[in-house]
Amino acid sequence: MRDVRASFDRVADRYDETRAYAAGVIERIAAAVEINLPMNGRVLDIGVGTGRLAAPMRACGFDVVGIDVSSMMLGKARGKGLDQLLLADAMALPFPDGSFQCSVSVHVTHLISDWPKVLSEVGRVTSERYASVATEREGCEVEELQRTYEEACAELGHEVKHPGLRERDLVRIIKPVKVVDVADSRETVLKADAIERYRTRIYSNIWEVPEHVHDHAMDRLEETYRPITTLERKERISLIVWDAESVREYAARADLAGRED
Ligand SMILES: C[S@@+](CC[C@H](N)C(=O)[O-])C[C@H]1O[C@@H](n2cnc3c(N)ncnc32)[C@H](O)[C@@H]1O
Repeated sequence: MRDVRASFDRVADRYDETRAYAAGVIERIAAAVEINLPMNGRVLDIGVGTGRLAAPMRACGFDVVGIDVSSMMLGKARGKGLDQLLLADAMALPFPDGSFQCSVSVHVTHLISDWPKVLSEVGRVTSERYASVATEREGCEVEELQRTYEEACAELGHEVKHPGLRERDLVRIIKPVKVVDVADSRETVLKADAIERYRTRIYSNIWEVPEHVHDHAMDRLEETYRPITTLERKERISLIVWDAESVREYAARADLAGRED
């Protein structure tokens, strides 16, 4: 398997607890998926993880197949009753052309530097629709805390970033057929919990922060947030749906450009 920087095995035990949507949001996502994706064929969840979306999709009646490179994440998905799971790489999907009517990936392509290759595989195995669930945080205190950590890292010359492109940013290069607003959530989280997630490097974009830089950033968080007990988290969740044909067209252009380089 190529291009897996670091395995999600390390966070599988804590993934659901630390990546949970606000109460009621997952049901709204599943309902939006049910309304907006054709469900008379199989759906492939690429980077299915713990089955955060696959389990509710299956509960809605979708015939879900999930692939992932992390056996521990797949183990968690299996524990939710998902049984069509494969250890496989998004850049080399082990399925014949057009095997799935729909495919989805949620918070996956930002982890893969050769994300156009993933799109090429999506286009190859998907006949009709490709979708993702985007989460945008705008101007909330949890986002400010993240910025504080990142700015402290930048002071020591380390840029916190992901190697790939987020699915939600794909809308700038492949026009979706629809973007459906699913939920606006607002929650209060404990500052101690938010900081602990940074300390224990729960988030994949900080796995590669050198130890001394991480320590510096953690000192900054402790100092900045000392007087505070709670933080507000505001999220806007939307379902983005692309035509598989547009994904194929983009992938063909990207492949051609790559060969001409
Ligand atoms: C942030 S998690 C998202 C999981 C799930 N889609 C969700 O929304 O909860 C990213 C997942 O992508 C998987 N992943 C990363 N690189 C991959 C690759 N090249 N092929 C397949 N899965 C990959 C990770 O193992 C992890 O389970």
